Amino acid sequence: MKILVVGGGGREHALVRKLKESPKVQEIHCAPGNAGIAADALCVDIKATDLDAMVDYAVQQAFDLVVVAPDDPLCMGMVDVLEARGIPAFGPTRAAAAIEGSKVFAKELMEKYHIPTAAHRTFEDAAQAVAYIREQNSWPCVIKADGLALGKGVVIAQNLAEAEEAVRRMMEDKIFGESGSRIVVEEFLTGPEVSVLAFCDGTTVVPMVSSMDHKRAYDGNEGPNTGGMGAIAPNPHYTSELAERCMEEIFLPTVQAMAQEGCPFRGCLYFGLMLTPAGPKVIEYNCRFGDPETQVVLPLLESDLVEIMLATRSGTLAQTPVVWKQGAAACVVLASGGYPGSYPVGLTIEGLEDSGQVAQSGAVVYHAGTRKADSQLVTAGGRVMGVTAVGDSLDDALQSAYKAAGSISFPGMHYRGDIGRY
Ligand code: AMP
Ligand code: GLY
Repeated sequence: MKILVVGGGGREHALVRKLKESPKVQEIHCAPGNAGIAADALCVDIKATDLDAMVDYAVQQAFDLVVVAPDDPLCMGMVDVLEARGIPAFGPTRAAAAIEGSKVFAKELMEKYHIPTAAHRTFEDAAQAVAYIREQNSWPCVIKADGLALGKGVVIAQNLAEAEEAVRRMMEDKIFGESGSRIVVEEFLTGPEVSVLAFCDGTTVVPMVSSMDHKRAYDGNEGPNTGGMGAIAPNPHYTSELAERCMEEIFLPTVQAMAQEGCPFRGCLYFGLMLTPAGPKVIEYNCRFGDPETQVVLPLLESDLVEIMLATRSGTLAQTPVVWKQGAAACVVLASGGYPGSYPVGLTIEGLEDSGQVAQSGAVVYHAGTRKADSQLVTAGGRVMGVTAVGDSLDDALQSAYKAAGSISFPGMHYRGDIGRY
């Protein structure tokens, strides 16, 4: 088979690596990819959001499967257009991607189908939102832009001033564009967070091994929210009892609800859960593989990812083996100085071989923001790479990942020293 992976971050590198293990795969392209992915796939310079160019390329190359990994092209309907032009695609349709693309859609779905989540109200008017928040007078209060906002659309306001500022910036200054035309105001929940990615074929849902992201920039879960500074799998808080409960109360009801609403979900559905004192609740859905979670989940997959992806299209997931390895995986993200704020790019990265890997470390370096400049590997993004290791135990995995991370350097590089300690 000839496969195209759309996207160019650590998640896509992990996808390319796992797809390559399949005996079915002959050739992999990745668009746009990055300097590390280039060692594993043919990188093509097409933006993930350039729907027309991407689909034209896919048709011209006659791919047997296109894996659309990022949220924007999924929410734009790339899968619909590919399928309409006869190219098999992994991922939800535009209608099903609304489960991530519109928080209002997601909250209404959960309300209608009694799926546990934070209590909420939706607003289209800033003054009404502020009046409601003032009346609630319950802190902190959570304010979310309806649409996609590069993972920055959630504000946890500690007081009325912060809440008013968040509402104004989203609804009046439109810092996230149309994504902030509507907002959701919701109850603040507490408890450990768990990410569960699940393969879905419209009816069947097969959860992957659980994982934990580390969203804050600095050690001790301090500092601003990021796209994710590291991950571990499985998530130590997620017991088999909880897994059963989530299947019954959250995973199956969600997949059934989507089918009922006329937009069956096929692809990878990401459940962002909080284990609250009142039981597990949905914090968010994503319509795709999470990043960095994918970098720890896929290395633990024993089965053939291509077969599973094909099964999500053909509705045969229930008959397809999805087997996990024993042990654990840990990923440490190496970020640019200043990230998640502004940061420099083009800085030389030391410590990697030509292949983009650390020699004889046993760890895998999934590249995110890297590129080649005059045959030198340089930084090209906020999250530069994720260093992942698998071990018999979480401690083993963490030790190998940190050892490999310690041999990589670039000016201003920062990473968290406490991944897996929560
Ligand atoms: P999201 O982009 O929806 O995942 O939100 C980003 C982060 O904000 C989550 O990972 C949580 O840590 C936090 N968060 C979102 N919603 C809530 C909530 N209702 N209560 C507490 N924390 C939340
Ligand atoms: N790691 C969170 C996400 O992928 O949205």
